[in-house]
Amino acid sequence: MKNIAIIGCGYWGKNLVRNFYKLGVLNTVCDSDDNLLNKLKENYPDIKCEKNFNKILSDKNIAGVVISTPASSHYELVKKSLENGKNVLVEKPFTTSVKEAEELVKLAKNKKLILMVGFTFLYNAAVIKVKEIIDSGELGDIYYVCSQRLNLGIVRKDVNAWWNLAPHDVSIILYWISQKVKFVSGFGISFLQKGIEDVVTANIKFDNLPAAFIHVSWLNPSKVRQMAVIGSKKMAIYDDVSTDRKVQVYDKGVDKFEDFNSFDQFQLIHRAGDVYVPKIDFKEPLEIEAKHFVDCIKNKKQPFTSGEKSLPVVNVLEGVEKSIKQGKTINL
Ligand SMILES: NC(=O)c1ccc[n+]([C@@H]2O[C@H](COP(=O)([O-])OP(=O)(O)OC[C@H]3O[C@@H](n4cnc5c(N)ncnc54)[C@H](O)[C@@H]3O)[C@@H](O)[C@H]2O)c1
Repeated sequence: MKNIAIIGCGYWGKNLVRNFYKLGVLNTVCDSDDNLLNKLKENYPDIKCEKNFNKILSDKNIAGVVISTPASSHYELVKKSLENGKNVLVEKPFTTSVKEAEELVKLAKNKKLILMVGFTFLYNAAVIKVKEIIDSGELGDIYYVCSQRLNLGIVRKDVNAWWNLAPHDVSIILYWISQKVKFVSGFGISFLQKGIEDVVTANIKFDNLPAAFIHVSWLNPSKVRQMAVIGSKKMAIYDDVSTDRKVQVYDKGVDKFEDFNSFDQFQLIHRAGDVYVPKIDFKEPLEIEAKHFVDCIKNKKQPFTSGEKSLPVVNVLEGVEKSIKQGKTINL
């Protein structure tokens, strides 16, 4: 059934349009930019094009809206959509505050509507493979995750590099390390626009052993999207930019041996064994995500990345933002 509308068909929205069209469920595309709508009309002549978001809200044929407008507009558009009885898939970062996110989760619950967040990487086969490897115990106890997402990328005007890029890192890390976050801290610096940080580094401490370190920037000469998971037995690298070695597992580490000759002494011995590249059956994550949204509407299922399950991500994002502004560690 063609019952989906996409709001915001810019850089990322175009990918959503392609995927929902492929599934045969796309009814209408909506964007406030006339030039963009004209191009979409040429490429998808059988799809309705609409400039006014309010027309989508009153269209009885639309069951689900996909919101891919700038982050600062998400809250208002999601709220209106839910109030008008539409199921919603909203792009990352969901909202730009925990208060707004909680309000939307409550609204969706009261209205018995689907609220899903587009944390695309949680539908990525390489990310899922690393999760399986961590959960199998192969890496041992997880010491820490180190994540870098750098590029000479799109510079946003409404949110900083942290809110724009880090939703990916934070959602992946919370998925891999299924523990409560204890505290966070962050440091950010603006070069291009006053008060909008271009480069951010952040630290996350979980309840038990693990920690995570994140570095995001849209002011870097080369594209880096790499995450290292360091365990007590082995280490894994997830490199999203690589085409044939997205995940590599290293039998490397430092082992601790008790020295029985002297009480309370130990030796640290380096270990470097084999490296392997696990087989991954890769499918476009956005296609899987789009199918999942349609399935959740049809079968009234809670999405894997529901609004409710996404609250911890927004909580960490907001915590680090507070830390950047206040210059201190934030307990969560
Ligand atoms: N999941 C991912 O990997 C990923 C990647 C990039 C961007 N995003 C997210 O997608 C969203 C959009 O980012 P983008 O890069 O496509 O931005 P963009 O600026 O290229 O596109 C946004 C579009 O929304 C339209 N728009 C804004 N307000 C509107 C309204 N009220 N009604 C109709 N149209 C409206 C604009 O005209 C524009 O065409 C952001 O939330 C961003 O964080 C996600």
